[in-house]
Amino acid sequence: MRTDLLSTFSPKERANAVARATALLKRGEVVALPTETVYGLAADALNAIAVAKIFEVKERPHFDPLIVHLPDRDWLEKIAALPPRDRRTILRLADQFWPGPFTMVLPKRKRVPEIVTAGLDTVAVRISAHPVFAEVVRAFGKPLAAPSANRFGRISPTTAQHVLNELDGRIPLIVDAGPTEHGIESTIVTVRNGRIEILRRGPITAEELRGIGFQPMTDGPEANGTVRAPGQLPSHYAPRTPLKIIDAVKTFSPKPNRRAALLAWHPPSRSESSQFAAVRILSERQDLREAAANLFRYLRELDALGVDLIVAERVPSRGLGEAIMDRLQRAAHPRSAARCRRE
Ligand code: TXA
Ligand code: MG
Repeated sequence: MRTDLLSTFSPKERANAVARATALLKRGEVVALPTETVYGLAADALNAIAVAKIFEVKERPHFDPLIVHLPDRDWLEKIAALPPRDRRTILRLADQFWPGPFTMVLPKRKRVPEIVTAGLDTVAVRISAHPVFAEVVRAFGKPLAAPSANRFGRISPTTAQHVLNELDGRIPLIVDAGPTEHGIESTIVTVRNGRIEILRRGPITAEELRGIGFQPMTDGPEANGTVRAPGQLPSHYAPRTPLKIIDAVKTFSPKPNRRAALLAWHPPSRSESSQFAAVRILSERQDLREAAANLFRYLRELDALGVDLIVAERVPSRGLGEAIMDRLQRAAHPRSAARCRRE
């Protein structure tokens, strides 16, 4: 794939870049856009397959929840369900810091695909103040999921050239608006039960929050500025039902009197299916991107059935397959559920 780098220096260049980015996003593509913090790798947040491409491009070894960038304030309550108790605080914070480098983790609404939140019940939302980003997301008319535009394990890009160095040939477009203003990622907070907790330190500081009458909690693992890996969050998704990974359905039969559900990679034959209480096929057309987009949703659906066992068939370990296997292995860990309760 050829990666174009479009400047936004003159008004004409900028109009052209915004139009190209918007058209690509509407086609479900991933494009790199400047924000006021770092460059982001954006895709349609409500299109699970487009979001799966973000993980593929970044080569993340596992799925991390993404920040959803809203076109405007009207989108807040379409994406997040504001708890009555925290509503006033959330709206005040939004008034104060949006648009800007400030992200709130809030209970998610159903319309947000599971792959965006890595199976969490919460969604991270912000409104970017970058004029080019703002223009693109408004022209697009829907929220954009966007992590930093680096490959996994590298630092966040603050220029279009950094993005090109990392992602040349993997995405169709990088929109260049010069170096980013903040150069570090947005401050992330959770607002829960009347309390604000800083999960990631960033341009909006604890002092600033205190200055306007909030009492953020900054002790705990986030005090030293490190982000809590979502895999360690107590609410991180792990099925309640025991999960077993198998190489192929052909070589597996559930024990008598045990109800099992199947998460399949290869579409099973009718006799193979008949051994299971329920079957979900990750991708009928064997597309890992579609499989990744479906993974969390199917796991949840099978978990809700109350069967004795979920059997998950191994997927090929290329491309997004590794990310899928990482999630499955985590879900299959014998202490998965216990670990979640303890933390
Ligand atoms: O400034 C920024 O925030 C940039 C620009 C592009 O907006 N984005 C960014 O995204 O830094 P990313 O994916 O590199 O980092 C987002 C962080 C991750 O560490 C993720 O774990 C955390 O946000 N996060 C996202 N959703 C979360 C949730 N529901 N609960 C807890 N943490 C969450
Ligand atoms: Mg990042």
